[in-house]
Amino acid sequence: MLTANIERDLNVVEERTVRIDMDKLVSICRRRGFIFPSSEIYGGLSGCWDYGPLGVELKRNVKDAWWRAMVQERDDMVGLETSILMHPRTWEASGHVAGFSDPLAECKQCHQRWRVDELKEKACPACGGELTESRQFNLMFKTFAGPVEDAASVVYLRPETAQGMFVNFQNIVDTSRKKLPFGIAQIGRSFRNEITTGNFIFRSREFEQMEIEFFVKPGTDEKWFQYWLQTRMNWYAERLGIRKENLRLRQHEKEELAHYAKGCYDVNYQFPIGWAELEGIANRGDFDLTQHAKFSGKSLDYFDDETKERFIPYVIEPSAGVDRSVLAVLCDAYDEDTADGEPRSLFRFHPNVAPIKVAVLPLSKKETLSPLAKQIHTDLRQCWTVQYDDTQSIGRRYRRQDEIGTPFCVTVDFQSLEDNRVTIRERDRMNQIRVPVTGLRNTIAAKLGGEDLFILPPGGEIWKKGGEK
Ligand code: GAP
Repeated sequence: MLTANIERDLNVVEERTVRIDMDKLVSICRRRGFIFPSSEIYGGLSGCWDYGPLGVELKRNVKDAWWRAMVQERDDMVGLETSILMHPRTWEASGHVAGFSDPLAECKQCHQRWRVDELKEKACPACGGELTESRQFNLMFKTFAGPVEDAASVVYLRPETAQGMFVNFQNIVDTSRKKLPFGIAQIGRSFRNEITTGNFIFRSREFEQMEIEFFVKPGTDEKWFQYWLQTRMNWYAERLGIRKENLRLRQHEKEELAHYAKGCYDVNYQFPIGWAELEGIANRGDFDLTQHAKFSGKSLDYFDDETKERFIPYVIEPSAGVDRSVLAVLCDAYDEDTADGEPRSLFRFHPNVAPIKVAVLPLSKKETLSPLAKQIHTDLRQCWTVQYDDTQSIGRRYRRQDEIGTPFCVTVDFQSLEDNRVTIRERDRMNQIRVPVTGLRNTIAAKLGGEDLFILPPGGEIWKKGGEK
């Protein structure tokens, strides 16, 4: 079975001993400007989070890495961006109005509400009080379109981006000239009125998804299902740099399967809260297109030019959470070691996702150094996110960049004015090389692309190993 091979291939253990707990991560993310509680000055809003200056870069990089690999590098995928508000019949057809709910019970004593299927005991976890009978609570946020607040104007904030892709299936077939098998990909906000939120950005009420609906000929679905399990597992490891030993696939039991799914696996990550879902990959059969054809009265079948057959395609759906991917990246990259005899805490981000790729650091604030340093800054920022920092000691500035996960620092010193060479210092092993300014951009591009630091450009030399002279 291919699935078993995937588990085996990814079972490679890399060295890294530090495991961060969730409270510490929340605090570090707040302090360093990655993620803040939403509307914090009013005491926050449960289940909502704001991405700060570094968090927004990190999140954008995660989405770009997905879009690049899943859409731009493929011939069999097109992108789409659909509206958050959709015709309300969409959610009747999809089954969300009738069935997108969790079992809820209220404590008769303190009136807190709980998701029953997640409770370990039958009493209220907060005060031990008796709970009411459970009832199904629909997770869709309801609102009204237009000035009249009546039943006819009810619309929902979408709980998944998927339906926007199904209802556009015919538009894509008609306009893109794609033939099966092909996919539609979308990144966008989704909303769920979760009964309980928590574990930082793991479960929120407003979040982003990266979803693919991959349409295939019935009978080829199992092959494509296996293909997508492998492809998505590889993406997390290769494009986000998540360690393979912290990723695994978990097959859903029959009774766990959603109403639409023929089969489903979760990509799980080993979060501080334990193994938990990062992405769901489902074989949805022909459920969605059949339902939308029925509810809309429009034909959504596909005509195969070669076999002259007409049929409703099957769908394989890899559905990932942006915020959970960001959380996994943060957990996986966090590390602690020592530098110059001092404890150091850092994020060992993969260059693809690091919020800042390079920092330009003139050795001193002296006016003689700043023109060259600023010129380098201007040059490098044409390609990457680059920070310029000339405050405090060089050691403090390296530490600051390590803390936010910047892979490389470029140091401009007085010698640079004479030999037109600068130092590149790497975050992970703190090694340094000296390179000509003329070759700096190409050298950094190569190093960000994964080339070893000690492969030197013409005129370059190894300067310091492991931070020692
Ligand atoms: N279209 C299928 C679908 O939406 P899902 O398993 O309900 O499937 C897919 O959601 C992914 O979206 C999850 O694996 C998770 O990463 C993310 N997700 C779902 N609910 C979330 C929430 N409340 N907060 C953050 N991410 C969530």
